[in-house]
Formats: sequence, structure tokens, C-alpha cells
Amino acid sequence: MFFAKSLGLGLSTAVVSTVALTIANNNPLIYFHGRWDSSPGSWWASTGFKLYVQNLQTLSLDLQADSSSPVGLGVSVDYGNFTSVNASPGTNVIPLGSPNACGSVVRINAWGWQNERMLLQDLVLNSDAVLLPYEAADVNFLFIGDSLSAGQYLPMGVDQAWPFLIGEEFKAEATVIAQPCIALADVVSCSNPHGMSVQFFDTEDPNYIDMPDHDYTTPWNFSNDKPTPTHIVIHIGANDVSHGVSASQFVTVYLSFLQRLRTIYPTQPIFVFTPWGWPQPDGTVGYYYVGSYEQIVSQSQDPNVHLVNTTGWVAYGDIFPDNLHPTVAGHQKIAGEFTTWLANWGLRPAAEWATPV
Ligand SMILES: *[C@@H]1O[C@H](CO)[C@@H](O)[C@H](O)[C@H]1NC(C)=O
Ligand SMILES: *[C@@H]1O[C@H](CO)[C@@H](O)[C@H](O)[C@H]1NC(C)=O
Ligand SMILES: *[C@@H]1O[C@H](CO)[C@@H](O)[C@H](O)[C@H]1NC(C)=O
Repeated sequence: MFFAKSLGLGLSTAVVSTVALTIANNNPLIYFHGRWDSSPGSWWASTGFKLYVQNLQTLSLDLQADSSSPVGLGVSVDYGNFTSVNASPGTNVIPLGSPNACGSVVRINAWGWQNERMLLQDLVLNSDAVLLPYEAADVNFLFIGDSLSAGQYLPMGVDQAWPFLIGEEFKAEATVIAQPCIALADVVSCSNPHGMSVQFFDTEDPNYIDMPDHDYTTPWNFSNDKPTPTHIVIHIGANDVSHGVSASQFVTVYLSFLQRLRTIYPTQPIFVFTPWGWPQPDGTVGYYYVGSYEQIVSQSQDPNVHLVNTTGWVAYGDIFPDNLHPTVAGHQKIAGEFTTWLANWGLRPAAEWATPV
């Protein structure tokens, strides 16, 4: 796709420019976020990059051969709603609508809890586009969880899930380290070889075991967290209880996970969600580890670990009956509840995004 530019000489002919601006995948003006390996390749749903571009007309992504085929990309231009683009190895034209001539923000992420590997070769922009530095928001949420945070069963995965919606609502950065069926305790669960208490500290999400080009893990270098998380939210436990982890074992593993997080994130507020449970057709809700989350918060003896009581947040009408996971509307409801909770706690959405368009 090329940008037709008029010479403005009174001629009706438009000249098609075939010159393009190629941006290498290590250009420091690409604002990478989430967990990337050195390819650079994305791991964990929600990982992606942001661009701030003056005079943006066209954008395509060249993806390396080992990218997922297809990889579902969420694309948002100038803070509009994310739409899905199925990208594949090779050249992918990204639809942009009508971006602002002066400055445009393009946000692209991998939304899938699987098939989430975007291996970036380079970016191709119209020749007269100018890449500018993207300025990150002051608030950067880090969400840690399982399918209920990864957006499993949603058409656009994590991009429609409550953690990501919180980032959007607060005009904040958001990283979601979440994987369906993962436990906190280090047990094998579905195809996850490890629990979150181990996997969180790796660059790779648990899908690494199925990747022919990269079937190993590497320690995540937390200096590469971009930007450093300012607020940490944890919603986990459903797959511990289903794997027979006792309440006392769960409390123990959670407390040591918090201690290890504190070595990386010494002062950030940490929000511990109680489960919203499994709503049933008769109106009851199946809760698990009742009382354990209160115990974790109090035994942590950490004044900046806060209990978020989600009792009653999710009802039968908010879930898919066949898998009991929240629907698109259900996730929006949860995001609304947590937005209210955070406002009462003292955090309100920013008025504007940090990078203006
Ligand atoms: C963006 O999404 C929201 C929530 O789904 C919807 O209410 C709104 O109409 C959408 N905006 C546009 C421009 O499509
Ligand atoms: C981690 O990243 C930082 C900043 O990029 C770098 O200085 C440091 O050497 C890295 N540590 C390791 C163990 O690679
Ligand atoms: C959580 O909220 C429910 C419903 O309001 C209440 O019954 C329960 O006692 C609360 N739990 C805690 C630990 O505050």
C-alpha cells in the first residue's frame, strides 16, 4: 500500500511514491512493552509495542518465519477501540483508518492466550513519516492471573478482559502476566509445565513447551520491565483448588510469592483479589479458599498489600454457561467494579494519555 502524493503543480496526476521508511526492530523509538525475547518475539497475551508517529499514512509489519500463523493482533490508532488483525509471517498491512496528520499513537499487541508469538522483523512506514518518542503513562498496572485474567474464550482475548480494560479506563500502561489453567503453586496444570510462582519469573509464558523454535525458558530480566509497574493486581487460585492444593499450602505459596515480588517491587501497592467464584444457574456462587485470602493479606504483615473483596461481582448472567468464564459484557462489569474500588482506595483515571494526539 503506497501513499499517493500530489505534486501540486496544477497537474491532475498523482505520483505514487514507492519509497518507504523501514524501521529496524531494534529502533529505540519502538516502545516495546510486556515480555519480549531477543528475536524480538512476544510472550504472554498483551505484550506488544507502541509508536508515536508524525505524518503517519501507512504501516506494515514484517514478521519473521517463526511467528504464530496467524497471530491475532489488537490494533488501536489514536486511542480508539482495539480491532483485531490476523497477522502472519511476512508483510502485514495494518489498517489505520484516518490517523492524525500531526501525531498519531499506534498501539499493537498480541491478544491471544495461545498463538501469541509476534516475531518482529521490521516496520515499514510511508517515507515521510517521522518516528517520535512515545511517552508512557505514570501509572503502569501489572496483573497476574489465570484464564480469568487472560481473557480466555473472548473473541479478542486479553484485549477484552478486565485487566486490559482497567488500563484503558485509567489511561495507563498495563501488563498482563496470565495464562489459562495455571496454578500459583508449582504444579503441572493442563499443558502448563509450571505454576505461576515459577513461570512469572521467566520471559516465556507456558506455551514455550510447544514452540519448535524456542522450547526453553530464560529468566526475565526485571530491569527490562517497561515501564516499572506501579500497581500490582493478583487474581489466582482457581487452578490450585482444582489440583488439590490445600488451603494451608495455598496460603504458604502465596506468602512466599509475595515475598519474592517484594524483592523486585519493594514499595508498590499489591492488590489481592478474592475469587468472584463460579456462578451457578440457581443463583448460588461456588467460592473456594474462603478466608484464605484474608489470611494471606494479614499474615503478609505488609501494609501495602490490600484485599479486594470481589464477592458478588460476577453473577450467572455475566458468564458463558458452558465454561463459567465471564463474557465480554461480564469483563466490562468487573472492570467497572474494580474502577470504583480503586477510586475509593484513592486512584482515579488520568484525564489525558501521556502522549497526546
Ligand atoms: C468502543 O467500544 C465501546 C465499548 O464496547 C463502545 O461503547 C463504543 O461505541 C466503541 N466506539 C467506537 C467508535 O466504535
Ligand atoms: C538486565 O538488563 C539490564 C538493563 O538492560 C542490564 O544492564 C543487565 O546487564 C541485565 N542483566 C542480565 C543478567 O542480563
Ligand atoms: C466480602 O464481601 C461479602 C459480601 O459483601 C461479605 O459477606 C464478606 O464478609 C466480605 N469478606 C471480607 C473478608 O470482607
